[in-house]
Amino acid sequence: MQHVECEKWVSTLNDRGYMTLSIDPFTQKFLDYCESHSGVHVFEGGAAYGIATHLALKRGAIVTANDGDPRHLDLLYEHTPQEFRSALKLSPGMLPHDLDFPKDSFDVIYSSRMMHFLTGEEVEICMSKFFNWLKEGGKIFLVVESPYLGACYSAFILTYEERKKQGHPWPGLIEDTTSYKSMRYNNIPRLLNFFDTDIMRRISKNCGLIVEECAYINRTDFPLEVRHDGRESVGLVATKPYA
Ligand SMILES: C[S@@+](CC[C@H](N)C(=O)[O-])C[C@H]1O[C@@H](n2cnc3c(N)ncnc32)[C@H](O)[C@@H]1O
Repeated sequence: MQHVECEKWVSTLNDRGYMTLSIDPFTQKFLDYCESHSGVHVFEGGAAYGIATHLALKRGAIVTANDGDPRHLDLLYEHTPQEFRSALKLSPGMLPHDLDFPKDSFDVIYSSRMMHFLTGEEVEICMSKFFNWLKEGGKIFLVVESPYLGACYSAFILTYEERKKQGHPWPGLIEDTTSYKSMRYNNIPRLLNFFDTDIMRRISKNCGLIVEECAYINRTDFPLEVRHDGRESVGLVATKPYA
């Protein structure tokens, strides 16, 4: 794996941030669900080197792991213990356009810290694909970063809050991150599209999901420089209703 910036963050190879080695409360809910529903078929979007995929496999899940960079998936596979490899499928490609699965393919969809790399339109397409791929009664667990992500984005918070007051549909969109880059954690692309809990609820309801829980995550596990006030990430648990 590439250089590690802090003991819990590992750089991606494609300027898409860092895989975190710590487990946030929504990822823990996803893993608990895999444990209590052994044999569920999971799709993970933006798996990077597979921290969550590996833990889900160990809890008895069958996992289709996606990432936009196939090199991440090669490393994910290399680090998968032999005994779990038959329960793992790799699905490289950029969401939402490169991938398609038949309707009702998965019991669970999980994606952590990937969707803020998509434009608003791509987020909506991605959510409707996730909804379609999910079986009725299936669960979706998402984690996405918010604008409250620490020192380097603090100048953006005012812009975000002003846009929010004006009813902008994507108030957390930064089309050019150049002026916000942290000195240390600068492995990011030009566009970021931060979520808040209102956005997360809206896009979930719009595609037909029933929201069970949607809340900010206090990232005490993140490096100090990318922490702000306990609202650094947004988490979601939602269900696809029976028709
Ligand atoms: C910040 S890392 C998050 C890794 C891990 N899921 C976590 O929570 O720490 C984002 C990952 O999503 C992948 N990614 C970004 N945009 C993507 C897209 N449009 N489709 C699929 N994967 C994408 C990147 O290649 C990267 O591995």
